[in-house]
Amino acid sequence: MLVTGASSGIGEAIVTALLEQGFIVYAGARRVERMSHLADKGARVLALDITDADSIAAVLTRIERDGVELDGLVNNAGYGSYGVLEEVPIEEARRQFEVNVFGLMALTREVLPGMRRRRRGRIVNIGSMAGRIWFPVGGWYHATKYALEALSDALRVETRPFGLSVSLIQPGVIRSEWAAIARKPLCEDPPEAPYARIKRGMAAILADHSRAGTPEMIAEAVVHALTASRPRRRYARPRDARILIFLHWLLPTWAWERGVRWLLARYARKASDDNGGGTSVDGGEAGPDSGPENSNESGNKSDGEKRGEAES
Ligand SMILES: NC(=O)c1ccc[n+]([C@@H]2O[C@H](COP(=O)([O-])OP(=O)(O)OC[C@H]3O[C@@H](n4cnc5c(N)ncnc54)[C@H](OP(=O)(O)O)[C@@H]3O)[C@@H](O)[C@H]2O)c1
Repeated sequence: MLVTGASSGIGEAIVTALLEQGFIVYAGARRVERMSHLADKGARVLALDITDADSIAAVLTRIERDGVELDGLVNNAGYGSYGVLEEVPIEEARRQFEVNVFGLMALTREVLPGMRRRRRGRIVNIGSMAGRIWFPVGGWYHATKYALEALSDALRVETRPFGLSVSLIQPGVIRSEWAAIARKPLCEDPPEAPYARIKRGMAAILADHSRAGTPEMIAEAVVHALTASRPRRRYARPRDARILIFLHWLLPTWAWERGVRWLLARYARKASDDNGGGTSVDGGEAGPDSGPENSNESGNKSDGEKRGEAES
């Protein structure tokens, strides 16, 4: 088995669960030093950047040299970087697509020929409930996960004649490093900035982990997708994710939109109150929705830079 994005959160839990099942597990991520405890448990830890073709080639060469045939690929690596569509630099949007969509497919393409020849293999993509429901301020992240929905379905039908299976996992809110990285760009605005209020609301929503699920819940679904005689096409976990996906399917767009606006306003208000009334979610003065032109001057940073800051 090869699991990407294994250095934290969901990927780490998937590697642990697969080791417990007795699989040979290759754990890939850029921060190799963060995976030493997985190596202690028996994982074969590899440096992997899924946006780098050479890095992908090196990983697959190593697996081949070990004489191991990949029966399963878990495409878990991914990140979100939130922001309003007017302000997110196109380079940052491209970067999210590079990791969440193109990098994922670049690795998958390299793994497929071997699986197809052996007529054996399972691919599990970690999508998101964000691929079925939308919120403002997460537009680019949603776009990557919506894309993964279509790609997973197309891939499943294309590879089925060769005996392969493709499953998509749709996690809801899960405790990991994801939210801190996603909300980081939302916390840089002065309160009078044009989109300060909606960003404050979304930052507060992303910070609320009161109903969050655990990475282990997702790992359990992945193990099912990799081992069950009839793997499912989709697994939404935890229950809240299933409810939200159902509601989005059920409601007309205007009703969903009204609900989203209500939720954002409620969280923005609560964030202000929690900060002593009139202060923003990050401690600055709370301001009106609109004000002098003052967009995110610092710009959105790469996920690597943000990750460093989120950890420090
Ligand atoms: N947490 C949630 O609420 C949630 C909800 C729905 C879906 N998801 C999805 O679940 C997946 C795992 O996220 P998580 O919650 O576990 O977040 P996380 O704790 O931030 O883990 C993300 C992982 O992706 C890796 N990664 C990022 N860019 C990479 C790249 N270019 N090449 C290789 N690895 C890369 C990171 O490792 P390095 O930085 O070391 O490379 C890290 O191990 C993501 O696809 C995310 O979109 C998460």
